[in-house]
Amino acid sequence: MVGGMVRDIIMGRGTVDVDVVVNGDGPSFAASLAALTGGSIVLHDRFGTSVLILPDKRRVDVATARTETYNAAAALPDVSFTVIDYDLKRRDFSINAVAVALGSAEFGEVLDPFNGQADIAAGVIRVLHEGSFVDDPTRIFRAARFEQRFQFHLDEETERLLRAAVRAGLLNHVSGARVRNEVMAIFEEREPATTVKRLQDFGVWNALVPGLDANVTAATIVAAITMAGKELSPSLKPDWRTFNAYLMGLATDASEAAARDLTERLGLSHHSRRAVTRAVAGRSLVLSELANEPQPSVLRQTLAGYSDAALVFFYAAGDAAVRASIERFLAGRRIKPLITGRDLTRQGYLPSAVFSDVLESVMAAQLDGIVKTVAEANELARQLLDAANQIAVSGDK
Ligand code: CTP
Repeated sequence: MVGGMVRDIIMGRGTVDVDVVVNGDGPSFAASLAALTGGSIVLHDRFGTSVLILPDKRRVDVATARTETYNAAAALPDVSFTVIDYDLKRRDFSINAVAVALGSAEFGEVLDPFNGQADIAAGVIRVLHEGSFVDDPTRIFRAARFEQRFQFHLDEETERLLRAAVRAGLLNHVSGARVRNEVMAIFEEREPATTVKRLQDFGVWNALVPGLDANVTAATIVAAITMAGKELSPSLKPDWRTFNAYLMGLATDASEAAARDLTERLGLSHHSRRAVTRAVAGRSLVLSELANEPQPSVLRQTLAGYSDAALVFFYAAGDAAVRASIERFLAGRRIKPLITGRDLTRQGYLPSAVFSDVLESVMAAQLDGIVKTVAEANELARQLLDAANQIAVSGDK
């Protein structure tokens, strides 16, 4: 057993995922474990890694210890130890490079070649060798994330190597998908804002996207987004994108171009790119309009076209008046329109492109309390359709 779970057990923290490294055939070990536990294998990749999901939904990652050095190590007395030792050496930080043997003969034996236990006790994040960030620049994000999660601090040399890696532009070599995973992992932390701030201090955001500075405002908004999401979520569409809201927060003070570049760098879908860029570009205007307690119809118009993630972002970025406006908007969204397109066709109007404008105007009037009954709504629709020269061909007009 290796990695995060060992670290968490040593720290006395709860842990969910299990990482197992097998000296030998990982996939067939995983298959036996699946058969024994009633779990199922959901992935088996070309690196010999299997992911097993237990019946209680916990996840067990089963990797095969890398054996490139197996032959070189064969001269040593304990080959199996050397293989796992090599595996540990490829890992990110000493705190994640402690292993515990699970085999019956040596069950419970701790392998700690990099003094991970001492670093856990001292609260230090330390790379295992000076090429660590070059081998895998995503460790730049991980270092800040673990440091902030556990309230640890980076070892001095590790911080120097990290800053040098950022300056050398190593992040430019990381794919969009991998950077996205790292940024997502930050936003899954309990308090993502501190990691955002720390990465700003390292110059990571600017290195990732020129012009992206996650300054104090951004960090504050990121912190507020967690709360805003919780408060608003009962009124939001179930599939609203938390991640997009956080990205808006991250880019809150960036230019529209930098916000767009961020979404492109992370390889977001076309839809998410637009949603994030629009919200960042529209923020100042929306916040100033929402602060003036607009009429419901104006509110609806102002917020039309913004995603639910943007509503969370505006809510997090705004003052009490803005928050009240967003709450009113969401309450208004639950109100059913008094009439629909079917009511218009029933009156003999032929469906046309004008319908949606007319229905929108009727809805606006309904929200503002100008029309209160179905009859009044129909009457207003009739007037608007007549004004638009739509002629009823039959029906009860
Ligand atoms: N690892 C690594 N370098 C990376 C990613 C992972 O060396 N870039 C190693 C670490 O030993 C880590 C293990 O793979 O402990 C499992 O990775 P992951 O599940 O991402 O890390 P956890 O430490 O379990 O993190 P978390 O607590 O956030 O789940």
